[in-house]
Amino acid sequence: MFAASEIIRLVLFILPSYFANSTPVLLGGGKPLDFGRKWSDGNRIFGDGKTIRGFFAGALAGLLIGSLEALILPYTPYALYATTADYAIAGLLLGLGTMLGDLFGSFIKRRQGIARGKPSILTDQLMFLAVALVLVYPLAVPLLTLWAVIFLFVLTYFVHSGANVIANRLGLKKVPW
Ligand code: CTP
Ligand code: MG
Repeated sequence: MFAASEIIRLVLFILPSYFANSTPVLLGGGKPLDFGRKWSDGNRIFGDGKTIRGFFAGALAGLLIGSLEALILPYTPYALYATTADYAIAGLLLGLGTMLGDLFGSFIKRRQGIARGKPSILTDQLMFLAVALVLVYPLAVPLLTLWAVIFLFVLTYFVHSGANVIANRLGLKKVPW
């Protein structure tokens, strides 16, 4: 189905999103994005796990990784985009999409009455990827075939699960999800 080189290219493509998703665990904190406000159902809009600093740190991490890729990948067999600017723009879109998807995921969790930090596969692991892919899609049309998208969702499920277990063992996260 996939050549090894295509898999490498897809992993490199999605890397800004993974960095965006994990950066807030390290650099987040401070004021929550909803400023403590509640929705009409009495639950928080997003909750204390979604902070302003975490959001911007995540989006910028995407930009940073995309920019680093711009310096390297055009000179390898794994070029992703036509111009160097596209790497940075794609990185930013992936970072922004990841953080918006993460936020939307928490919004849905709060509406379902799921407490902050409790697991929910669909919203925790897959929502950020879905929104990131939608935002970056215009730049990544040739890469994002149906099989590539399916591969990325499966990969993300396993990477996210594994990363959270590791973050938990390292003491960065209280819970292994
Ligand atoms: N984080 C942050 N700002 C964000 C996203 C995440 O500061 N915009 C930090 C928070 O410290 C958060 C941690 O990263 O606790 C892990 O993120 P996540 O698992 O997405 O949040 P949860 O605390 O599990 O909250 P939720 O139930 O809303 O997903
Ligand atoms: Mg969580």
